[in-house]
Amino acid sequence: MDVIPVLRGKRILLGVSGSIAAYKAAELASRLTQAGARVDAILTAAASRFVTPLTFQSLTGRPAPADLWSEDAHVLHVGLADGADLLLIAPATADILAKLAHGLADDLLTVTALAARCPLLIAPAMDAGMFEHPAVQANLTALLARGATVIGPAGGRMASGLTGRGRMLEPEEILGHVRRAAGRSGPLAGRHVVVTAGGTEEPIDPVRSLSNRSSGKQGFAVAQAALDRGANVTLVAAPCSLPTPVGASRIDVSTAHEMAHAVLEASAGADALVMAAAVADFRPARPADHKLKKDAGLPVLELERTTDILRAVAEVRARTGRPACVVGFAAETGDLLANARKKLQEKRLSLVVANDVSKPDAGFGADTNRVTLIDSAGADELPLLSKAEVAERILDRVGALLTRD
Ligand code: CTP
Repeated sequence: MDVIPVLRGKRILLGVSGSIAAYKAAELASRLTQAGARVDAILTAAASRFVTPLTFQSLTGRPAPADLWSEDAHVLHVGLADGADLLLIAPATADILAKLAHGLADDLLTVTALAARCPLLIAPAMDAGMFEHPAVQANLTALLARGATVIGPAGGRMASGLTGRGRMLEPEEILGHVRRAAGRSGPLAGRHVVVTAGGTEEPIDPVRSLSNRSSGKQGFAVAQAALDRGANVTLVAAPCSLPTPVGASRIDVSTAHEMAHAVLEASAGADALVMAAAVADFRPARPADHKLKKDAGLPVLELERTTDILRAVAEVRARTGRPACVVGFAAETGDLLANARKKLQEKRLSLVVANDVSKPDAGFGADTNRVTLIDSAGADELPLLSKAEVAERILDRVGALLTRD
C-alpha cells in the first residue's frame, strides 16, 4: 500500500485491549505503518493473551510496551503521550471504556490515556448484550461528552455465535476514521467539495442500459483526498461497487438526468466541484417500459442529448459565483491538449484534467492514471501515478485556487 499523505509522520498511539478483535488490531497497525504513520502499540494484559507485543513490534518496527511496572515506565507513558497526534483504542472492551470514563489508571494504556492531550478515537468490541448494558452506554456517553469519537460497533455475527451490535469495525473502515481525524484541521477544513464519480447508465428498457467503462476509482480517490484535507464532501456516485470513503455524504444516482439534478443542488452553495464522472452525452430518446423481446425484430435506438452538467453549473456560477472552483475531466483518444483546452473554455472551467484513455495504464478501470492538468496559465503534464496520487495533485490545485479567491 502507498503512503497516505495525511498520515505521513503522524504519531498514533494504538491502544489494544482484551477482545478477540485484537487480532484485527494487528492488521490495523500494519496498515497505519505502511501509510507512513509512526505507530506505538500499547497492549493491556488481557490483550496480550490474544496477541503478543511481538506481533505489534514486528509490524510497526517500534517497541510495543505492555507493562506499567517496567523500570522506565514512569517516563515511558509521558514519552508516549507527549506529542501524539491521536490515541486510537481498537478494540475497546467494556472494561477499558469504564476505566477511561472514570479516569482509572492502573496499566500503561490507561496511564498514557490520562497523560495524552490528543484526540481520542474509540472502536468498541464486545458482545451485543454487554454493549447495550446501561453501564457501558453511560460510560460511552461520558466519553462522548468529553470529546471522544466513538466508531461502531457494527452489527453482525460475533465470536460467541450470537448476532447483534458489538463487532469492531473492520480495519479498512477504522483507517478511514483515522484519516478523517488526522485531516480535520487540514487546508480545506470548513470547505464544501462536491465530487462526481463513475459512469452513468441510460435505460434502453427495464433490463438494459447504455453505459461506459468508468470504474469510479478516480472520482472516489478525489473524494478521499478532499476528505483528507478536512473538506466536507458530497460524493455523487453513478452505479459502481466501491465503498464510500469514511466521512463522505454519498448520493447514488443512475442517469445523467439524476446526476444533473443532484449536482446542481449540492454544488449551489459549495466551494468546489470536481466532475470526475463519465456522464453519458446521449441517451435513448424513448426507453421502453417493457423488456424488448428479440422475436419482435431488431430495435432501432433513437438517441437524444443529455444535459451538459458542467455547462449548467457554469450558468449558475455566472450568476452566483459558486462554486468558486470547477474542475472538469477530458477523456480523449487523440489531440489531447487541443480538445482539453476547448473544454476548459467552453465549459468555463477553473481546471481540466485531461487523460489519454487509449493507453492501457491510464484512464478507465486502471489503478494508475497519466494526466495533464490544464488551466488558463498552462499545462502541467504529470507522470504515470496512482489514482490516489493524481487525486492529491488535483486537490493541491483546488486548494490553491480556493485560497487565491
Ligand atoms: N460532463 C458533464 N455533462 C455531460 C457530459 C459530461 O458535465 N452531459 C462532464 C464530465 O463529467 C467531464 C467533462 O464534462 O468532466 C467531459 O466533457 P465532455 O464534453 O462530455 O467530454 P466528452 O464526453 O469527451 O465529449 P466530446 O465528445 O465533446 O469529446
